[in-house]
Amino acid sequence: MTTSSPVDPTTTSAWADLTTHHEALEPDLRGWFAADPARAERLAFQAADLYVDLSKNLATDETLALLVRLADEVRLPERIEAMFRGEHINVTEDRAVLHTALRRLPAEGEEHLVVDGQDVDADVEAELQKIAAFADKVRSGAWTGVTGKPVRTIVNIGIGGSDLGPVMVYEALRPYLQEGLEARFVSNIDPTDVAQKTADLDPETTLFIVASKTFGTLETLTNARLARAWLWEGLAAAGAIEDTDAARTAAVGQHFVAVSTALDKVADFGIDPANAFGFWDWVGGRYSVDSAIGTSLAVAFGPNRFRELLAGFRAMDEHFRTTPFERNVPALMGLLNVWYTNFLGAQSHAVLPYAQQLHRFAAYLQQLTMESNGKSVRWDGTPVTTDTGEVFWGEPGTNGQHAFYQLIHQGTRLIPADFIAVANPAYPLVDAEGDGKQVPAGADVHELFLANFFAQTKALAFGKTPDEVRAEGTAEHLVSARTFSGNRPTTSILAPALTPSVVGQLIALYEHITFVQGVVWGIDSFDQWGVELGKKLALEIAPAVAGDDAALAQQDASTQALVRRYRELRG
Ligand code: F6P
Repeated sequence: MTTSSPVDPTTTSAWADLTTHHEALEPDLRGWFAADPARAERLAFQAADLYVDLSKNLATDETLALLVRLADEVRLPERIEAMFRGEHINVTEDRAVLHTALRRLPAEGEEHLVVDGQDVDADVEAELQKIAAFADKVRSGAWTGVTGKPVRTIVNIGIGGSDLGPVMVYEALRPYLQEGLEARFVSNIDPTDVAQKTADLDPETTLFIVASKTFGTLETLTNARLARAWLWEGLAAAGAIEDTDAARTAAVGQHFVAVSTALDKVADFGIDPANAFGFWDWVGGRYSVDSAIGTSLAVAFGPNRFRELLAGFRAMDEHFRTTPFERNVPALMGLLNVWYTNFLGAQSHAVLPYAQQLHRFAAYLQQLTMESNGKSVRWDGTPVTTDTGEVFWGEPGTNGQHAFYQLIHQGTRLIPADFIAVANPAYPLVDAEGDGKQVPAGADVHELFLANFFAQTKALAFGKTPDEVRAEGTAEHLVSARTFSGNRPTTSILAPALTPSVVGQLIALYEHITFVQGVVWGIDSFDQWGVELGKKLALEIAPAVAGDDAALAQQDASTQALVRRYRELRG
């Protein structure tokens, strides 16, 4: 157990000073930039390959200095070291939190990280090599299905952290996919998911990866059984296997592998533990994409690309661990989130990638941030003393612009937003014809796209005054509707290209932002007790849904009525 108690941030002198500072502060991005042209340069930082512009946030140099002081007063430096060293900072589960060890890769001769008697570095490396050997076999065609055909489709079956990270990275890195291979991801226990994702697949060339940290998750095990039945049925129908237990077992051996920390349960499911890839209880589900949970990615993109992804994580880890908070991007972004949540009353935070390949990034971040920091008690069990986790949400630009940006520009709520873009697109297409008006012939479409990225943060920051609206000849009764207040905060993140390393850097950036916020609030960002009650009740209600009247009678009146109506409708 870690002995250190949380510091109540509201009792620190920095918090008191932030409160006074906030009372006196009148955010004025137009004025601030006009009076201080160096602001843009001064408040932009480099973290590994990411250029991060914080200048359009509602913060002055004094705000940032106070937030940095707050970080020190809540003992953030100590907590960072405690995490990297492997102390049991996941207090409610009495576990170390060592996702950073998954990408540490110590140099030759460097002392290994040993935690709770485990040589963490050696174990991580051994598992990576096992995954790499498997990935190479599948990619080269040396691994075949029972009929000797190479694998064309890998289907990852998992949910939450055993799905969202792999899906997000798969989509982000799709241009690196090996020709002739594809991956699919089944997560939902809605039978539609597995039915649709397998509908056009050939069982002879399909390999399932059952990914579950606990190997006890209802959704994943149910989907795995459905997939196994689909496999047997399909192979038997094609005359590829006999109708015997031995043939079925052999088929599972060739078409199923597993990823888990519970290898005994893998064996119970019928998957040979030799075909299972392990990780450890010190990796939280939502922090696990860079563990064996990323096996589908190692297969799809190759072990070297997977190592590049890990190197990206590591570059951000090093930045976080070694850079003074004044220039430390995850620390500053996390502290700004605290500023918005606790002083400016923001309740949500938008993440808006101007990169279609990042279209699942917000979904991924929702689990990372909200399962981590959606807590009302601190790590010592006492109530939190401030508001905690924001609602994270988002969609890629420019789609979001034509949907919900109206509210960000002119709504009554403050919504800090992170804009993410890459300079070099995977598909550098040119609009040869153009339209002769808005789009010149030969326009680089990525540049049209990024013009929106630049324009949106500018519009949000600086707005449009009533006088500017009037100057356009707008009728007086429409002036207020066409006015933009500005002072809507954004952070811009610009990367050279969506490489595996950059994707790793982005993920680690948000992991550490989440950690920083959790430390300020004094919460255990690594447990998730809030998901348990619903799981338990679903199991209790399942017999009632299936027609057990005695079980139905145990339920509350509303649930009884809903289940009855469901049964009538089901027919
Ligand atoms: O129910 C929430 C959760 O425990 C997540 O934290 C986790 O990522 C997900 O379920 C899946 O868990 P597992 O990998 O053990 O199947």
